[in-house]
Amino acid sequence: MTEKQTWSQRFESALHPAIARFNASISFDIELIEYDITGSQAHAKMLAHTGIISHAEGEALFNGLEQVRQEYRQRQFQPGVDAEDVHFAVEKRLTEIVGDVGKKLHTARSRNDQVGTDTRLYLRDQIQQIRQQLRNFQTVLVDIAEKNVETLIPGYTHLQRAQPVSLAHHLLAYFHMAQRDWERLEDVYSRVNISPLGCGALAGTTFPIDRHYSANLLHFDHVYANSLDGVSDRDFVIEFLCAASIIMVHLSRLSEEIILWASEEFRFVTLKDSCATGSSIMPQKKNPDVPELVRGKTGRVFGHLQAMLVIMKGLPLAYNKDLQEDKEGIFDSVNTVKACLEAMTILLQEGLEFRHQRLATAVTEDFSNATDVADYLAARGVPFREAYNIVGKVVKTSIAAGKLLKDLQLQEWQQIHPAFASDIYEAITPRQVVAARNSYGGTGFEQVRQALVNARTQLSVK
Ligand code: ARG
Repeated sequence: MTEKQTWSQRFESALHPAIARFNASISFDIELIEYDITGSQAHAKMLAHTGIISHAEGEALFNGLEQVRQEYRQRQFQPGVDAEDVHFAVEKRLTEIVGDVGKKLHTARSRNDQVGTDTRLYLRDQIQQIRQQLRNFQTVLVDIAEKNVETLIPGYTHLQRAQPVSLAHHLLAYFHMAQRDWERLEDVYSRVNISPLGCGALAGTTFPIDRHYSANLLHFDHVYANSLDGVSDRDFVIEFLCAASIIMVHLSRLSEEIILWASEEFRFVTLKDSCATGSSIMPQKKNPDVPELVRGKTGRVFGHLQAMLVIMKGLPLAYNKDLQEDKEGIFDSVNTVKACLEAMTILLQEGLEFRHQRLATAVTEDFSNATDVADYLAARGVPFREAYNIVGKVVKTSIAAGKLLKDLQLQEWQQIHPAFASDIYEAITPRQVVAARNSYGGTGFEQVRQALVNARTQLSVK
């Protein structure tokens, strides 16, 4: 039997050890310990500020909590399963250190508003760290893009060669996804940063607390206006997991492309030894484990989002123990997103080499300039749909003849349509095909150069 718990005298016997283990969250919510201490310190200050406890008592609690923090950091304090959760663990250790005054800490609060406070303080920190990592990721994308404005790469729709694009343009697409992620997290942050502290168990408290005072100390922007909502709201968790899932979608799409590019079928990139692994049996292999793992890990973050939605959907107000289940998903998602962003940033920065020769050839070996032939005719007065049909026939006969468009004689072009002149050859070179797409947001070099300038400006916003 475990030691008797912290709850009231109403309980006569201790918990069954298996039930104690089942109930306990200390094995994972220990992650929150420093936030729990910080939150409790603010609560103690508020209690003293409002005269609910004396200033001396407030100070004793504050300093005692600081000692718990130091002991934890120095590994002198390592709570076990008996503590049930991190909140009880800290309070218990505090009381051992400061004596009976420690028992005053929990005046005018509940673990329900406490755990909500801790989780928000934790997520706030993590969101800022992830946003910084997104910035690093974006910076590397722009660094590579700047060197590759005029590197061409086949562009695809339906995974079929469509039109060639600037490699910089392709990479900047991911920059913009990450930019939205960065902005989205800022938005999520605004709803994470609301204080539930002082909502009590569910209904507020009989003590004359000052919720704004403790919220200010903890740098919360607002306080929850409704105590029932304050203790049971986990929208901010769902929103965070959603933002995390979208980041993973983006990383996973990039991963998939890198995996394809590294294959023998594409040969667009070489993976450097520092970021690739070998096979235990096939000596010739070099595997793209990093992007594969990122793609694979995406699943667990989606899973945590789904789990949280399901946890919430049937919960009556206010706190229910089901909410303890939010934490492992949050922690795992945070750790996964951070690990994946770090790995992908390193992979881009030093693990990937674009095969320029191969790319230059790749954009000349197909019909991805066919649209430009249609545009050529359309620019000379042929209605686009008609031009499209004409070029469709040209492609068909070229394929039959085993030729590419650039191999057709001027005579052959002119038989197809009299509007063709010798400048058709220049119009369908990959370089010109890309350069000509100078519409706003397009892959034309001028556009891409401007996009890079804009990207740098966006990056300068901290
Ligand atoms: N460990 C709990 C959790 O993570 C803390 C809140 C407990 N509240 C309660 N009324 N049992 O949710």
